[in-house]
Amino acid sequence: MTAITQPALRLAKRMSRLGTETAFEVLVKARALEAKGRDIVHLEIGEPDFDTPANVIEAGANALHKGWTHYSPSAGLPQLRQAIAEEVERTRGVKVAPEEVVVVPGGKPTIFFLILALIEEGDEVIYPNPGFPIYESMVNFLGAKAVPIRLREERDFGMDVDELKSLITDRTKLVILNSPHNPTGGIQTERDVREIAQAIGDRDVMVLSDEIYSRLIFEGSHFSILSLDGWKERTVLLDGFSKTYAMTGWRLGYGVMRADLATHVARLMTNSNSCTASFTQVAGIEALRGDQTSVDKMCAEFKRRRDLMVAGLNEIKGFSCRLPKGAFYTFPNITGTGWKSKKLADALLDDAGVAGLSGTAFGDYGEGYLRFSVANSMENLEKALGRIEEWTKKNL
Ligand SMILES: Cc1ncc(COP(=O)(O)O)c(C=O)c1O
Repeated sequence: MTAITQPALRLAKRMSRLGTETAFEVLVKARALEAKGRDIVHLEIGEPDFDTPANVIEAGANALHKGWTHYSPSAGLPQLRQAIAEEVERTRGVKVAPEEVVVVPGGKPTIFFLILALIEEGDEVIYPNPGFPIYESMVNFLGAKAVPIRLREERDFGMDVDELKSLITDRTKLVILNSPHNPTGGIQTERDVREIAQAIGDRDVMVLSDEIYSRLIFEGSHFSILSLDGWKERTVLLDGFSKTYAMTGWRLGYGVMRADLATHVARLMTNSNSCTASFTQVAGIEALRGDQTSVDKMCAEFKRRRDLMVAGLNEIKGFSCRLPKGAFYTFPNITGTGWKSKKLADALLDDAGVAGLSGTAFGDYGEGYLRFSVANSMENLEKALGRIEEWTKKNL
């Protein structure tokens, strides 16, 4: 018998340009250390440690029993699209029709599908750096040019609009905004948003406004570019259920966009997922229309934890941390330690049993920072702070 040789894997070239989300890799490494008996405090992954609210679980379970186990329309159940349109209208003060809503499995697919639908080789996309790594990954994947706009600590991690203006060229097709911001917790005020809109002006440029943390704000209030006169046609709003309702595993999110674009994004859904799970969508209606006290409770708890974590980090040699105004992350400056971010993140995991992320997991301008999620108990945050402090005393 002739031996069968394993053929070489001939991946498409574009796969070499696809990035990743380091949080998932650090989680795997942290779990492997746990399997060897180590005690690890998990501050790496970006998901609420709370359970999905009971009313939402019940709605999802009931939906399964009632037969919501089949395909739904690709763009989502009409009832959910209607509920989302009402929610967005209420929270952003702009009229939204159900045909302008596309329900997708999570927050990420709106990034993926929008960039697939709009961006061609040679196009330029301006995105926040440090920022959610999937923006840069997707733009590079499609052979377009990812143009970072640096978010600086001295501006409270807000955008410098003069810099934004200087980065816009004739090839700019999309500007990505994210507020409240992952990983810094910075938020854009109404004034910031107006200045950004003015900087873009009436150029033929679309905006992807990632507002997945819009309900998790500790100081100030959320303001969307969608609310500005004339911006609805040029904005795609990304929001979802993962963070607000602690529903990361349900996979439910949405994009709000002009109806002619929505039909194309829905076609991408037909070609990929077919639809978002039907019972998940039914639970989503309950999440939006049901009791909201668990959202408020979760937000208040994140604020308490943020205060503890920021105060603790500021006590540690070589660390300094601004007060994030939203989301559930702290983003301490660690330049005072003299260590590079990645090396420090690795050392804290390996030696101190604290899993956090290097700022560089969010782009080159994240050097000099670490990200610690506060989606863990006060007790564990205190444990992590104690361990980091002990580590710095031994090593700095
Ligand atoms: C800024 C931002 N956008 C989108 C997402 C994606 O959310 P999902 O898990 O629902 O896909 C995340 C998740 O961490 C995020 O931080």
